[in-house]
Amino acid sequence: MSVTGNEFRNAMSRFASGVTVIVSKDADERLHGITVSAFSSVSLSPPLVLICIEKTTGSHEALASAEHFTVNVLSSEQQETSQRFASWSPDKFNDLDMTTGELGLPILNGCLANLECKMSQAIDAGDHTIFIGEVAHAHVFEGDPLIYFRSDYRGLE
Ligand SMILES: Cc1cc2nc3c(=O)[nH]c(=O)nc-3n(C[C@H](O)[C@H](O)[C@H](O)COP(=O)(O)O)c2cc1C
Repeated sequence: MSVTGNEFRNAMSRFASGVTVIVSKDADERLHGITVSAFSSVSLSPPLVLICIEKTTGSHEALASAEHFTVNVLSSEQQETSQRFASWSPDKFNDLDMTTGELGLPILNGCLANLECKMSQAIDAGDHTIFIGEVAHAHVFEGDPLIYFRSDYRGLE
Protein backbone atom coordinates (compact mmCIF):
# COMPACT_ATOMS: atom_id res chain seq x y z
CA MET A 1 0.00 0.00 0.00
CA SER A 2 1.57 3.32 -1.00
CA VAL A 3 1.17 6.65 0.73
CA THR A 4 -1.50 9.00 -0.68
CA GLY A 5 -0.63 12.48 -2.01
CA ASN A 6 -2.29 14.08 1.02
CA GLU A 7 -0.45 11.85 3.50
CA PHE A 8 2.86 12.61 1.78
CA ARG A 9 2.23 16.40 1.70
CA ASN A 10 1.09 16.33 5.34
CA ALA A 11 4.20 14.45 6.48
CA MET A 12 6.56 16.68 4.47
CA SER A 13 4.90 19.83 5.87
CA ARG A 14 6.32 18.82 9.30
CA PHE A 15 9.83 19.44 7.95
CA ALA A 16 10.64 23.12 8.62
CA SER A 17 12.71 24.77 5.91
CA GLY A 18 14.08 28.11 4.85
CA VAL A 19 12.72 29.81 1.74
CA THR A 20 14.68 30.77 -1.38
CA VAL A 21 13.96 32.50 -4.68
CA ILE A 22 15.72 30.94 -7.67
CA VAL A 23 16.43 33.30 -10.57
CA SER A 24 17.35 32.19 -14.09
CA LYS A 25 17.10 33.35 -17.71
CA ASP A 26 15.45 31.40 -20.53
CA ALA A 27 16.82 30.99 -24.06
CA ASP A 28 15.20 34.36 -25.05
CA GLU A 29 17.02 36.08 -22.12
CA ARG A 30 13.72 36.52 -20.24
CA LEU A 31 14.03 36.46 -16.45
CA HIS A 32 12.30 33.78 -14.38
CA GLY A 33 12.00 33.61 -10.61
CA ILE A 34 10.44 30.92 -8.44
CA THR A 35 9.99 30.47 -4.69
CA VAL A 36 11.67 27.22 -3.64
CA SER A 37 11.99 25.47 -0.28
CA ALA A 38 13.52 22.30 -1.77
CA PHE A 39 17.09 23.62 -1.60
CA SER A 40 20.08 21.89 -0.05
CA SER A 41 23.81 21.91 0.16
CA VAL A 42 25.28 18.84 -1.63
CA SER A 43 29.07 18.97 -1.59
CA LEU A 44 31.82 21.18 -0.15
CA SER A 45 34.54 20.30 -2.66
CA PRO A 46 33.42 21.22 -5.23
CA PRO A 47 30.79 23.51 -3.63
CA LEU A 48 27.50 22.11 -4.95
CA VAL A 49 23.85 22.88 -4.11
CA LEU A 50 20.62 21.36 -5.38
CA ILE A 51 17.12 22.64 -6.06
CA CYS A 52 14.04 20.55 -6.92
CA ILE A 53 11.79 22.19 -9.51
CA GLU A 54 8.33 21.03 -10.61
CA LYS A 55 8.26 20.26 -14.32
CA THR A 56 5.06 22.28 -14.97
CA THR A 57 6.57 25.61 -13.82
CA GLY A 58 7.82 28.31 -16.18
CA SER A 59 11.12 28.30 -14.32
CA HIS A 60 11.63 24.62 -15.12
CA GLU A 61 11.74 25.35 -18.83
CA ALA A 62 14.18 28.21 -18.24
CA LEU A 63 16.44 26.19 -15.93
CA ALA A 64 16.51 23.24 -18.35
CA SER A 65 18.52 25.38 -20.80
CA ALA A 66 20.16 27.80 -18.34
CA GLU A 67 23.91 28.09 -17.81
CA HIS A 68 23.54 29.89 -14.49
CA PHE A 69 21.06 30.47 -11.67
CA THR A 70 21.08 32.40 -8.44
CA VAL A 71 19.77 31.21 -5.08
CA ASN A 72 18.45 34.03 -2.90
CA VAL A 73 17.94 32.98 0.74
CA LEU A 74 15.04 35.04 2.10
CA SER A 75 15.02 36.88 5.42
CA SER A 76 12.08 37.17 7.82
CA GLU A 77 11.36 40.59 6.19
CA GLN A 78 10.73 39.02 2.76
CA GLN A 79 7.45 37.12 3.07
CA GLU A 80 5.93 39.31 0.31
CA THR A 81 8.86 38.46 -1.97
CA SER A 82 8.19 34.76 -1.34
CA GLN A 83 4.50 35.22 -2.22
CA ARG A 84 5.35 37.24 -5.33
CA PHE A 85 7.61 34.50 -6.73
CA ALA A 86 5.16 31.73 -5.79
CA SER A 87 2.32 33.33 -7.84
CA TRP A 88 1.75 33.88 -11.52
CA SER A 89 2.61 37.39 -12.72
CA PRO A 90 3.57 38.81 -16.15
CA ASP A 91 6.53 40.58 -14.52
CA LYS A 92 7.62 39.25 -11.14
CA PHE A 93 10.69 41.53 -11.19
CA ASN A 94 8.81 44.82 -11.54
CA ASP A 95 10.01 47.37 -8.91
CA LEU A 96 12.08 44.75 -7.12
CA ASP A 97 15.13 45.82 -5.11
CA MET A 98 17.95 43.95 -6.89
CA THR A 99 21.44 44.29 -8.36
CA THR A 100 23.33 42.40 -11.06
CA GLY A 101 25.66 39.66 -9.84
CA GLU A 102 29.03 38.65 -11.24
CA LEU A 103 27.47 35.98 -13.49
CA GLY A 104 25.13 38.58 -15.03
CA LEU A 105 21.93 37.50 -13.28
CA PRO A 106 19.95 39.63 -10.82
CA ILE A 107 20.52 39.01 -7.13
CA LEU A 108 17.80 40.16 -4.75
CA ASN A 109 18.75 42.74 -2.11
CA GLY A 110 17.75 42.26 1.54
CA CYS A 111 18.45 38.50 1.55
CA LEU A 112 20.50 36.54 4.10
CA ALA A 113 22.58 35.05 1.29
CA ASN A 114 22.90 35.16 -2.49
CA LEU A 115 24.59 32.20 -4.19
CA GLU A 116 25.61 32.58 -7.85
CA CYS A 117 25.72 29.13 -9.44
CA LYS A 118 26.91 27.54 -12.66
CA MET A 119 24.56 24.78 -13.82
CA SER A 120 26.26 21.43 -13.29
CA GLN A 121 23.69 18.64 -13.68
CA ALA A 122 19.97 17.95 -14.12
CA ILE A 123 18.50 14.73 -12.70
CA ASP A 124 15.03 13.53 -13.62
CA ALA A 125 13.01 12.79 -10.46
CA GLY A 126 9.30 12.04 -10.87
CA ASP A 127 7.30 15.22 -11.50
CA HIS A 128 10.34 17.34 -10.53
CA THR A 129 13.89 17.81 -11.84
CA ILE A 130 16.82 18.10 -9.44
CA PHE A 131 19.13 20.84 -10.72
CA ILE A 132 22.64 20.84 -9.25
CA GLY A 133 24.69 24.01 -9.38
CA GLU A 134 28.31 24.77 -8.57
CA VAL A 135 28.54 27.88 -6.42
CA ALA A 136 30.83 30.42 -8.06
CA HIS A 137 30.16 33.41 -5.78
CA ALA A 138 28.51 33.67 -2.36
CA HIS A 139 27.37 36.84 -0.58
CA VAL A 140 26.18 36.78 3.04
CA PHE A 141 24.31 39.26 5.25
CA GLU A 142 22.94 39.44 8.81
CA GLY A 143 19.30 38.89 9.74
CA ASP A 144 16.72 36.27 10.70
CA PRO A 145 15.46 33.64 8.25
CA LEU A 146 12.02 33.26 6.71
CA ILE A 147 10.81 29.80 7.74
CA TYR A 148 8.12 27.65 6.09
CA PHE A 149 6.42 25.05 8.31
CA ARG A 150 3.06 23.28 8.01
CA SER A 151 2.10 25.35 4.93
CA ASP A 152 2.67 28.66 6.69
CA TYR A 153 5.41 31.25 7.21
CA ARG A 154 7.06 31.40 10.63
CA GLY A 155 9.77 33.32 12.39
CA LEU A 156 12.52 31.88 14.58
CA GLU A 157 10.69 32.55 17.87
C1 LIG B 1 7.05 28.39 0.52
C2 LIG B 1 6.99 27.81 -0.88
C3 LIG B 1 7.93 26.87 -1.28
C4 LIG B 1 7.89 26.33 -2.58
N1 LIG B 1 8.84 25.41 -2.93
C5 LIG B 1 8.86 24.92 -4.19
C6 LIG B 1 9.89 24.01 -4.58
O1 LIG B 1 10.76 23.64 -3.80
N2 LIG B 1 9.90 23.57 -5.89
C7 LIG B 1 8.93 23.97 -6.79
O2 LIG B 1 8.98 23.54 -7.96
N3 LIG B 1 7.93 24.82 -6.44
C8 LIG B 1 7.88 25.32 -5.18
N4 LIG B 1 6.90 26.20 -4.80
C9 LIG B 1 5.86 26.57 -5.79
C10 LIG B 1 6.36 27.62 -6.82
O3 LIG B 1 6.92 28.74 -6.15
C11 LIG B 1 5.18 28.08 -7.73
O4 LIG B 1 4.70 26.96 -8.45
C12 LIG B 1 5.55 29.22 -8.70
O5 LIG B 1 4.36 29.92 -9.02
C13 LIG B 1 6.18 28.77 -10.01
O6 LIG B 1 6.48 29.92 -10.78
P1 LIG B 1 6.87 29.88 -12.33
O7 LIG B 1 5.86 28.99 -13.02
O8 LIG B 1 6.75 31.32 -12.77
O9 LIG B 1 8.26 29.37 -12.45
C14 LIG B 1 6.88 26.74 -3.50
C15 LIG B 1 5.93 27.69 -3.08
C16 LIG B 1 5.98 28.21 -1.79
C17 LIG B 1 4.95 29.24 -1.37
